[in-house]
Amino acid sequence: MIDKRWVGRSFSRAASGYDRVAALQRQVGEGLLDRLPAGEFMPKSILDLGAGTGYCTALLGKRFPNSSLIAVDIAEGMLSIFKQRSGLQEKALRICGDGETLPLRDGSVDMVYSNLALQWCPDLSVVMGEFFRVLRPGGVLLFSTFGEASLCELRNAWAKADNHSHVNTFASKSAIETALTKAKFGDVSVLNEQCVIAYSSVNELLCELKKLGAHNITMNRPRHLTGKGVFRKMMEAYASAMPTGRINATFEIIHGLARLPSN
Ligand SMILES: C[S@@+](CC[C@H](N)C(=O)[O-])C[C@H]1O[C@@H](n2cnc3c(N)ncnc32)[C@H](O)[C@@H]1O
Repeated sequence: MIDKRWVGRSFSRAASGYDRVAALQRQVGEGLLDRLPAGEFMPKSILDLGAGTGYCTALLGKRFPNSSLIAVDIAEGMLSIFKQRSGLQEKALRICGDGETLPLRDGSVDMVYSNLALQWCPDLSVVMGEFFRVLRPGGVLLFSTFGEASLCELRNAWAKADNHSHVNTFASKSAIETALTKAKFGDVSVLNEQCVIAYSSVNELLCELKKLGAHNITMNRPRHLTGKGVFRKMMEAYASAMPTGRINATFEIIHGLARLPSN
């Protein structure tokens, strides 16, 4: 069971520095829009779930200037930074809320967009069910999330240092497909790609994760401070698995497109 208030607080604390380190998030969010069906798709209303500081909501606003935008995020702090983003204040309705219990009426939006937020919703069938509930018949769901191979190098390095779980786990592509089908979405298309980012040190990677607000939410996470010796062991294990001297980190990006059947 994830403590959602804790997730909200972590992201709120990270909010003011988030945009400075969220290059991958911006790149994935932009690419996601390319997956939209070509032609005359003109949603009247769009939900951006886990909207964060609003970068992608602004992209949606440019792509669909006549649509009304609803940005939902669990972190008040993220929504405060969002409020300062130029051009969005009057255009987007901001709501602090949880993707697993969306504060929206049934059948009230034409499109749900969510960029790299679903990895924080542990029960995918619940969140997909919520997307299905709030979409109108024929509505479109477009999302990205991290897949199970993400941060595998860091996870392996920690496994060599102690028995705790130090890195979040991510859903597999097939688990995501199953959740979409269970929720009764049609035209389901889920793709994945591996993105490998090189860091100068393990510390640089850990610092970036911290600045993004991405804290460890696994059940078996250590409840005490990790000792220096264990930390050093992890760093050595990470470095010794890297033949190039650079510290590579894998991010598996999963993109999904699905549609509610038309009545
Ligand atoms: C990595 S950020 C992505 C933000 C934004 N979509 C972007 O592309 O920059 C993840 C966001 O999801 C939000 N979030 C996490 N769990 C959530 C939940 N259960 N419901 C709504 N938002 C959530 C966080 O507060 C954070 O703003």
